[in-house]
Amino acid sequence: MDYTTLGRTGLKVSVAGLGCGGFSRLGLGTGKDEAHAIEIICAALDLGVNLFDTAAAYGTEPVLGKALAGTARDKVVICTKAPFGVSNPDSLPERAVASLDRSLKELQTDYIDVYQLHGIAPRAYDHAVNALAPALLRERDKGKFRWLGITETAPGDPEHQMTQRAVKDDAWGVVMVAFHMMHQNGRRLVFPLTQEHRVGTLLMFAVRNIFSKPDRLRATMRELADDGLVPRELADNPDPLGFLVHDGGASSLIDAAYRFVRHEPGVDVVLFGTGEPAHLKTNIASILKPPLPETDRVRLAELFGHLVGVGLDAPHLSPPSRRPA
Ligand SMILES: NC(=O)c1ccc[n+]([C@@H]2O[C@H](COP(=O)([O-])OP(=O)(O)OC[C@H]3O[C@@H](n4cnc5c(N)ncnc54)[C@H](OP(=O)(O)O)[C@@H]3O)[C@@H](O)[C@H]2O)c1
Repeated sequence: MDYTTLGRTGLKVSVAGLGCGGFSRLGLGTGKDEAHAIEIICAALDLGVNLFDTAAAYGTEPVLGKALAGTARDKVVICTKAPFGVSNPDSLPERAVASLDRSLKELQTDYIDVYQLHGIAPRAYDHAVNALAPALLRERDKGKFRWLGITETAPGDPEHQMTQRAVKDDAWGVVMVAFHMMHQNGRRLVFPLTQEHRVGTLLMFAVRNIFSKPDRLRATMRELADDGLVPRELADNPDPLGFLVHDGGASSLIDAAYRFVRHEPGVDVVLFGTGEPAHLKTNIASILKPPLPETDRVRLAELFGHLVGVGLDAPHLSPPSRRPA
């Protein structure tokens, strides 16, 4: 594993972080049981992952707490989040504090490393920074968590308006940002700012559905070509990003997707979500590989650098039995 420093928090974190939400929720989202989820977490620990991202909304705090119970607390970095409802501009700060206390119990820990407000829309940001953050920071001073973080609502804020404001406010030491091969505007809009203000970055949406479901990618290419946003030949090609897989290049599309985000200047931790032990291993291996060849990176920028908000699955796209991220 490679380790880095999470912005001004000074936390030493693995560059690959296990996402306990998304469509997989460690396998709980695809019908696997708690023992399986614990095995995924333990396998990640064995491979050197020390950062785990969960949330009140994911239902994976208890399983993460159980899996980490035997690990020295200072060897792991636990990130969790307040419920989505807290991002409502009318929500009471007391609700966020009550949820923080619940998370501490569910996670069986005395403190959380990064406590995040979850999916904050631009219109909810003033409330987040003026009402929620001060109340939560008083709890931090009691030792309940170390750093406050904030995550954007990627589908509802594809231009990162919220994050662009948050990085300039002292309250937040960490932001979570959506960025991937076909949604690259974080390079221009976010990462120069996070680097300037030394805000730690957790990267989400590296693969999601668009790169893990070939039909989804093909359908997206057709829509984009119909709108004149990508060359028609990509829509006609059954393997539109196949050019990335070659000797000296990526070994698969998913390998390309994780390597693409990992080496972006300004990205500290790549979150990956899975419920499959085999994916866990290959994804970490991909995140640890060198950058994609320059010719491929240039081509990705030329083909997709202008796209905004592609492949950011809105929560309603997931089956009702699953809790999305
Ligand atoms: N606003 C927010 O706060 C927010 C929003 C989104 C995400 N997040 C965080 O970011 C984390 C990562 O997001 P994500 O879960 O969407 O992760 P991701 O790594 O971008 O995508 C994971 C999806 O790809 C599949 N996959 C992963 N590796 C694969 C492989 N090698 N081959 C085939 N399919 C593969 C997974 O299914 P399998 O189970 O089959 O591997 C899963 O459906 C979340 O868990 C959460 O912690 C936060």
